[in-house]
Amino acid sequence: EKGGWSSFMAKEVAEQPEAVAKTILGRVHDGQVVIPELDGLDELFIGINRIIITACGTASYAALVGKYAIEQWARVAVDVELAHEFRYRDPVIGADTLVVSISQSGETMDTLMAVKYARERGARTLSICNTQGATIPRESDAVVYTHAGPEVAVASTKAFSAQITALLLLGLHMGRVRGTVADASVDVAELQALPEKIAKVLASEQEHVEQLAGWMADTRSVLFLGRHVGFPIALEGALKLKEISYIHAEGFAAGELKHGPIALIEPGQPVFVLLPSPRHSALIHSKVVSNIQEIRARGARVIVVAEEGDVAVLPFADEVIRIPLAGAMFEPLLSVVPLQIFAMALATAKGLDVDQPRNLAKSVTVE
Ligand code: BG6
Repeated sequence: EKGGWSSFMAKEVAEQPEAVAKTILGRVHDGQVVIPELDGLDELFIGINRIIITACGTASYAALVGKYAIEQWARVAVDVELAHEFRYRDPVIGADTLVVSISQSGETMDTLMAVKYARERGARTLSICNTQGATIPRESDAVVYTHAGPEVAVASTKAFSAQITALLLLGLHMGRVRGTVADASVDVAELQALPEKIAKVLASEQEHVEQLAGWMADTRSVLFLGRHVGFPIALEGALKLKEISYIHAEGFAAGELKHGPIALIEPGQPVFVLLPSPRHSALIHSKVVSNIQEIRARGARVIVVAEEGDVAVLPFADEVIRIPLAGAMFEPLLSVVPLQIFAMALATAKGLDVDQPRNLAKSVTVE
């Protein structure tokens, strides 16, 4: 039940610290990530030269964050493919390929068909799923469950955070098995600090973002820019807005701006920019700051999600939303939170039912 919350979505956004904590629980031992469900399955990760992560919707954006983390830690090439595209071409896969599928419900037909197809073609299969005993995990060689608890709102929030968490765990687990991560202690500490940091974003930015959405209730289009792991978060921020507030929204890789999307910038156009911490990469940070200057010069209304204490952006931002300091791979779990709140608040300001958006179903069990 909703408890005291105005919607299931509001409740589920607030439950994210717990969803992440429960997904980590029991999977860290002596400063290392050891996922008990994968015990005895090392061969899934050794002798592969390629991983394909397949999913639909929000889960496919979690997959994109997973690509960055798994490549960095496990040193194996990762591609992300929408399940319905993967299944209907002739992909080059076989015993040297691990196909990872991600599904909150575990019943999405497009994703299920992709898993069956991968198995028929001799690939190894692993699923990340939030529903015990669902069809997709039953069809896979291995499963890593997310422990977000039941998600009722159609637009996914806490399941998305739990999926990213599971992918980070999987990346560190694989890195240990493959011998590519010598010391995971810093990353494990980052993981374990996440629930508290997410709670901090909720406590410190909720009102600010709601107020922002209130001012923007008449907005007809919102753009989102991100780079590195901020790119999938830009896509997810745009998807949340489309799903529940029916506003045209697009997410872009910030580097792509000059190759097309900058033509969309006109005075007053709201643009969210996910600014990565300068501590991760001064170069990436400076590139995104330049993007902010470029769109501001063309009159965009710039809302920046930036690390606490990053003042580089202050002269060029109309609004700054602050997130705590976190490692590069962990920042998406913090930066997505204000975007979820924004979508929810804008839908509410428009008088819409945030839990039951028109034309959408929580789980699509037809192809
Ligand atoms: C969609 C839902 O149709 O299915 C999305 O409306 C969801 O919110 C997508 O992201 C994938 O669902 P699942 O259960 O496979 O993660």
